[in-house]
Parts: sequence; structure tokens; C-alpha cells
Amino acid sequence: MSDGGTARASAFERGGARKAAEGLDHLSGFGNEHSSEALPGALPEGRNSPQRAPLGLYAEQLSGTAFTEPRAENRRSWLYRIRPSAAHPAFTRTGNGALRSAPFTQTVPDPNRLRWDPLPAPAEGTDFLAGLWTLGGNGDVTRRTGVAVHLYHATASMERVFSDADGELLIVPERGGLLLRTEFGLLQVEPGHIALIPRGVRFRVELLDSSARGYVCENYGAPFRLPDLGPIGANGLANARDFRAPVAAYEDVEGPVEVVNKFCGNLWSATYDHSPLDVVAWHGNHVPYAYDLRRFNVMGTLSYDHPDPSIFTVLTSPSDTPGLAGVDFVVFAPRWLVGEDTFRPPYFHRNVMSEYMGLIEGAYDAKAEGFVPGGGSLHNMMSAHGPDRETFERASSAELRPQKIDDGLAFMFETRWPLSLTPQAARAEHLQQGYDDVWRGLERHFRPLH
Ligand SMILES: [Fe+2]
Repeated sequence: MSDGGTARASAFERGGARKAAEGLDHLSGFGNEHSSEALPGALPEGRNSPQRAPLGLYAEQLSGTAFTEPRAENRRSWLYRIRPSAAHPAFTRTGNGALRSAPFTQTVPDPNRLRWDPLPAPAEGTDFLAGLWTLGGNGDVTRRTGVAVHLYHATASMERVFSDADGELLIVPERGGLLLRTEFGLLQVEPGHIALIPRGVRFRVELLDSSARGYVCENYGAPFRLPDLGPIGANGLANARDFRAPVAAYEDVEGPVEVVNKFCGNLWSATYDHSPLDVVAWHGNHVPYAYDLRRFNVMGTLSYDHPDPSIFTVLTSPSDTPGLAGVDFVVFAPRWLVGEDTFRPPYFHRNVMSEYMGLIEGAYDAKAEGFVPGGGSLHNMMSAHGPDRETFERASSAELRPQKIDDGLAFMFETRWPLSLTPQAARAEHLQQGYDDVWRGLERHFRPLH
């Protein structure tokens, strides 16, 4: 690989993303103490920071939680790299594009049900970072609480490297595969998969197709984890072994590389004289990972009533209040509906939590039309929502034979606080007008007994 300057042995080549993504190896599990080395002997044994690290590498710890957090919560990794991360020039402010951060105070929080069509296509040459567009969020990025909901639409691979000090990035591709080149190695994700980049981890997004589109939950709060299973038992929902972490892979580039850092809501840029994706070995549990949502082990009723949608939780970011998530990531995956004497679609409800929903493919079983892949809906705290009129009429009179729901993949970011919109989302041309009409015409069926 050469970007000018000296190019030496490299474990992977820039460009050729599809080729690089072929047959990628990975590590299995969630929250593990993983370890990996791209070269034999690169990982020290028996200590983290020997007097001289193997192969002339620098040892460096990356902490995703405070040193003193309980062992079960603690996230950190040790990286063995060609240059320490500290070897960089000053960062200077660069444009934020359409990326915004909490607190979101430019619009009045809106109690209305809102729905958007997909983002308009961006200009050619728009990379993942430039293609990020913030819909809204809650909390405060400097207090490490809350979330931001972003969408992305990219038409070019990143050349630059990005990291987010403000939170972890849960990436939900809807169209187009992605190759994530991270400090820890490579991850491939396609629509129907998710990827998570932990806070502070440097990465580059390369496109596996001509364009890429999807959703991002930027979680400022506690790192996502698997939910407790309670009476479900030791297995089920997202199984830990189905999560993929990368194996170590590094690039050895001497030459200018732009590195962009998101810090307290703003983008800062510096031009390094080398690539920071130069980690030859690592171990720890603060690592990127990917997961195929089709592996989700769906639980549901075997008797009657639709369970609360928390039964579909893939990942949860806990708050200081037990059971109250900063944000849950929930998937509505293919499943059988067998409930007897049951209204089978998600029920009408009002919820103290706030719900942003997106659609990865197909259709969602509570909405007959208007909710399209790449679009999204927002049902803020206590806003009344549920099936549209057409779905209600159909489900109320359907013959209740076992039925497979397998024509869609929808998800939800469900958060503890209302989501406030950015001005660009509140005034977007792709904000649908008349979303309330889907509940218009729900007829009066009331027949009091005399
Ligand atoms: Fe809901």
C-alpha cells in the first residue's frame, strides 16, 4: 500500500473492499476477554505492559469504562501498535456536516406521531461520515447520557479514519454492505446485520456496493449489553456466541492520513503521518462486533396476547434505574404467530418510553403502507399509536391459524427520554405529511348492551 512515503508490509490493502471482505475470520462471543494477533508473538504473555513489548510495538490501554467500575461492567482493551495513539498533531475544528449532538434544543419537543421517507440520495463522493444526517436525540453528550438517532447514505468509501469520543455507534445497514476497517481488524456487515463500534475506536467504512444506506444509534450512555433473560433461562434472544469480533489486522502506512474525531458534539480533524489502524495485536473486551439479526431467537406467546415488545430486545444500555434502559435496540424478526383469541399485531398503546422505528426490509406487521425501508417513525413519550386502520380491520377478523411473519425486518431504538428533533428533521421534505391519517377512520364499533 502506498500513499506516498514509505510503504512496508501490510496485512490488508486499501480499496478492494469486496475482496478484502471475502472469507474473513472472526472471534465468537459477546463481552468476552478476546485476544488476537496478526503476527505470531505480537501479543505479550503474562503481562499487559512489558518493559519492551514484542516486535518493537507500543502497548496502550483503551478504556471504555472507568478503571474502577465493577468487573461485570468493565470494558477495556490492550492494543499493541506500531505507533502509540499519542503520536499525532493538534486537532482543529472541521465542518460537522449534517451531524448533530445532544442536547437538542433547537426545536420544541413534538408530541405528534411523525414519519419520514428515506433520506434523499447524496452527491457522488459522499463517504459514510459525510453521509451521516442526524434526526434527533436526547440527553447530553458531555454527561454521557442519552442517544442520537442518525441516518446515513453514502456513495463512496472513506479514505479518512473516524472515531467517536461521544459514544458507541450501533450501525444498522438497510441497503448496501459495509466493510469496517477498525483498529481491531475487519468486520463485514450486510443489510440484516448490525455492527457496533465502541466509544473511541478508530475505523474506516468502505462500501461493498455502489452505495450504502442505513441507521445509526449513537449511544452516549453505558455500553450496550445483552439483556438479562430471567425466566427465559440461559439461552435465547440474541445468543452470545453469534456475535462476531474481528481478528487482528493492521495497516502499515507511512504517509498523510486524515483522522476525524467527534468530541462533545463537534468534528475535529488532524492529518497524521501514518495510519492509526496499526494495531498488530490486542486483547480485551472493549471491541467492535457484528451480529446477524436473522439469528435472533424470537420468543413469543404460545397461548394468548402479544407480549410486550421488550421480548424482542437484542441489546440494552442500562441506566442508573434498574430495568429502565437509556436505550434498547429491539428487532421485529421473522416469527410464527399462534396466539388464540388474540389480536396478533402489536397492540395499541401509550408508553413512557420513546420509540424510533426503522425498517430494514419488507413490511412491518402493524403498518400496511407508508412505512418503507430506509424510512422511520417516531412515537414520542405517551403518544398514542398502534396498528393502522387497515391492519386493525384485517387482524380483527383474520382466521387465527398459525401464521408465519417472514416478509420484513423492522427494528426500534426505544429510549428513556423523549427524542427532540434537529431542525433539518423537523423541516425535512421527506417528513411525511398526514401520518395521523393512518389512524383516521378507525370506526366506532361500540354497541352498549341495553
Ligand atoms: Fe410502540
